[in-house]
Amino acid sequence: MNRPIYLDYAAATPTDNRVIDAMVKCLTQNGTFANPHAKDHVYGWEAAEACETARAQVASLVGCSPLEITFTSGATESNNLAIMGLAFALHKQGDKRRHIITTKIEHKAVLEACEVLQERGYKVTYLTPHKYGTVDCELLKSALDDDTFLVSIAQANSVLGSVNDIKALAKVTREAGAYFHTDTAQSAGYIETDFDHSDVSMATLTSEKVCGPKGVGALYIKRSLGLKLTALIYGGGQEKGLRGGTVPTHQVVGMGKAFEILQKEGKSDKERIESLRNHLLRRLKDIPGIIINGSMTHHVPGIVSVSFNNVDPRLLLPTLSGIAVSTGSACASADLKPSYILKAIGLTDDQARASLRISFGRFTTLEEIDEACDEICLKVPKLMTQYQKEKNL
Ligand SMILES: Cc1ncc(COP(=O)(O)O)c(C=O)c1O
Repeated sequence: MNRPIYLDYAAATPTDNRVIDAMVKCLTQNGTFANPHAKDHVYGWEAAEACETARAQVASLVGCSPLEITFTSGATESNNLAIMGLAFALHKQGDKRRHIITTKIEHKAVLEACEVLQERGYKVTYLTPHKYGTVDCELLKSALDDDTFLVSIAQANSVLGSVNDIKALAKVTREAGAYFHTDTAQSAGYIETDFDHSDVSMATLTSEKVCGPKGVGALYIKRSLGLKLTALIYGGGQEKGLRGGTVPTHQVVGMGKAFEILQKEGKSDKERIESLRNHLLRRLKDIPGIIINGSMTHHVPGIVSVSFNNVDPRLLLPTLSGIAVSTGSACASADLKPSYILKAIGLTDDQARASLRISFGRFTTLEEIDEACDEICLKVPKLMTQYQKEKNL
């Protein structure tokens, strides 16, 4: 059976072979398989060194010190640790502030962490983004108050690909005396971060979106702030007591390698992916009733979100059987509920349901994009005609 063309990079990317090679060396008998926390022998020292090299590779890409990188199991855990870990820590220190600001279109790993705190009496403001899926400083300023201790706004949205001006939002937040967290799961390596020269207090990083392995991520925590987050996972005091559990050498080495490759090749990767995006949009824009979501000027290269008027959403994915895309976020795709992100930027329920997130990256070819366009340009107009006939439109 021919498998459909894979266009769901925003959910997960194929792992780069160079990353796999680096990871395998951490698993074999002759490699750095040992527990990196084993202090009593050379096997442990070698594994620890491999993890520290990976930490430096991650730090180097995002412009910070390796001391500011804590490894986690992925973006979900990093977001939880940033938000809940800070809230619990400040509470313990007697800080009375209880207000968090975020947006309606954050990933569930941010929204649900905020909800947990809401259940404990915290107040959460959910900013409504502009229709292009971004928020600006004026909107943020109007929500900040003396009670605000944290603002959490993603750099790039996972469904729309729209990119926020994180530097400016962080500056406004810090001027108001609160901490600023950003989720860069969809943007690190493709959109500038340079944490050393920004007011970002904490940032979520992940590996699976940049051709690294799943199950590993990191949290950047700005050292000069002296933040002591409360751990959410307790155990052997690993990661300076912030994250109990044996650091999985092969995973973090894989993440380090993926970040190293991105640092060397990210610029050319980005240009190539951007040209695929432009080609895709040129071909799709003339489909009648198509809506192209997100920002045309501030976006990550590899995510395109489109919606269709007058299409039965239940038929959309089964009809487009030659392409593997998602209707929104992979985590929410089990039901046909309209995406809360597309609803928040003003789409109707029907438009939000009849949507595709087409995402691509390092290994996607122009031929694949062309084939995907052939499929969409041929089949979607037929679905529209069928829908209009059935509804007598
Ligand atoms: C912006 C963003 N944050 C967090 C996550 C969660 O990542 P993970 O499931 O790897 O923890 C995702 C996953 O798609 C994401 O896109």
